[in-house]
Amino acid sequence: MYEPDLVPLPRSVEDGGGRLALDARTALDAGPGAGRAAHWLRTALAAATGLPLPPAGQGGGEGAGGGRGAVVRLRVDETVAAELGPEGYRLDVTGDGAEIRGGAAPGVFWGAQTLRQLLGPAAYRRAPLPGRAWSLPCVRVADAPRFAWRGLMLDTARHFTPKDGVLRWIELLAAHKLNVLHLHLTDDQGWRLEIERFPRLTEVGAWRGRTKLGHRASPLWDVRPHGGFYTHDDIREIVAHAAGHHITVVPEIDLPGHSQAAVAAYPELGNTDARADAPRVWDDWGVSPEVLAPTEDVLRFYEGVFEEVLELFPGEFVHIGGDECPADQWRRSPTARARAERLGLDGVEALHGWFVRHFDRWLAERGRRLVGWDEILGAGTNGTNGTNGTAGTSGAGLGPGAVVSSWRGRSGAVAAARAGHDAVMCPEQQVYLDHRQDDGEDEPVPIGYVRTLRDVYGFDPVPPELAGTGAAEHVLGAQANLWTEVVDDQRRADYQAFPRLAAFAEVVWSGPGGGDGAEGPGDLERRFGDFERRMAAAHYARLDALGVAYRPPSGPHPWQRRPGIEGRPFEEPPEMS
Ligand code: ACM
Repeated sequence: MYEPDLVPLPRSVEDGGGRLALDARTALDAGPGAGRAAHWLRTALAAATGLPLPPAGQGGGEGAGGGRGAVVRLRVDETVAAELGPEGYRLDVTGDGAEIRGGAAPGVFWGAQTLRQLLGPAAYRRAPLPGRAWSLPCVRVADAPRFAWRGLMLDTARHFTPKDGVLRWIELLAAHKLNVLHLHLTDDQGWRLEIERFPRLTEVGAWRGRTKLGHRASPLWDVRPHGGFYTHDDIREIVAHAAGHHITVVPEIDLPGHSQAAVAAYPELGNTDARADAPRVWDDWGVSPEVLAPTEDVLRFYEGVFEEVLELFPGEFVHIGGDECPADQWRRSPTARARAERLGLDGVEALHGWFVRHFDRWLAERGRRLVGWDEILGAGTNGTNGTNGTAGTSGAGLGPGAVVSSWRGRSGAVAAARAGHDAVMCPEQQVYLDHRQDDGEDEPVPIGYVRTLRDVYGFDPVPPELAGTGAAEHVLGAQANLWTEVVDDQRRADYQAFPRLAAFAEVVWSGPGGGDGAEGPGDLERRFGDFERRMAAAHYARLDALGVAYRPPSGPHPWQRRPGIEGRPFEEPPEMS
């Protein structure tokens, strides 16, 4: 009997009884459109199992020493596309062979990921363990994702993730059937993307002399210089590696706020008539007052930046940040005040929206879609839409393609969808993975709300205000956000992300029975109980084999604690809006 231990859970799994042995004679036969999945599967399984998986007809499937081996067939199949969509797949394993039929190339790839899970945790290692025999349970799987946007945002600005770490994230996302990697590439504390025409952005902007250790209220400093950046070739490698895993990379260049590192590199980008000295790359946390000057020169500079971004990142979506933009410098700057007046804006706060609308149009003219944090949807407010009295955008004027990342709750997504914009749900109250996952004393540098594995599992990306309405179609999906102020290396990032990212993957892939979110009493508890069972039965062991330093269910290992470093736990928020 095969008891499903797959994560995320497929739509349906039927146990066919028996097993299919894989051995040196087993062949991999890829049809048109299945090449990428075949390349990935052969590479991953050859490493873990030592089996060569040759193409059928080239020694595979025929048996070098006589006798026929099994064939693993990968196909794109229109009937599957009609039934389960391009990312859907059917996987059939019988005593004679295995077949994956995807609605399109991505569906074949997700089916191949399921096949790897079926081989057991050792299939996630990079070299074969001695004395292993390999086999698959005979099953029939039919599967498709609930949402098209299943993402993780990685903040590479606050703490830099070296390139090999990003490549590893891509592999971890793919193992969980997540398909968007949003890279937060610029912020007050660092600029992480080489821009050839403006070299100081990385010569100066990619480095800071020291770093606040813990929350900004902490008195401690890490006095090691910190930094790093991705070259154009690094990004080409990252984007190609992502494409090989059917993952889209969404770059984020933050403007007009969160720009202190850029202003440190090129002081003329800032409001020079509103401050005494040019800033340095920030070494502390919070929202910096340094924002971009609202001049034509600054627009031209950032157009130059985005020209290189568009060359490097071929995806449809380009994130421009647009969050947390304090207007204090603009209020003090005669240039900014005059500019707002000339533009006929209702106060300097509306310069925020002017910046966003400019790049919305600029990207749309080049066939791309702007994504921004939910402050970009000001719905006509001036100065009342941002966090803590920061600027808001004038809601009018965003093109229909603009997409909202709803982070301050679900209201951004609700407003966006009702205004005809697509939205991605990433509310800080539920899926900010930097937030602590338990209220115990041992959580390392605890910040934010307590959001347990169970809490993340219970997240529903479709706001109740939209459920059952046509506007729900505008919710493209959801992403978990991993901010890195208190996450300074790979092990810490693993700890914050896992196992919660596995629960998140199940939310966005499987959903409640693939349905509309409506569940009866007790259904969520039952599903979560089954998820915990699958985690214990196999998925923690898969993460172990992958070398992921997840938080154990019983709490942190001693080496995962950070005693003495101050965090900032929040109390429970009021009902999320
Ligand atoms: C954000 O957390 N400021 C998007």
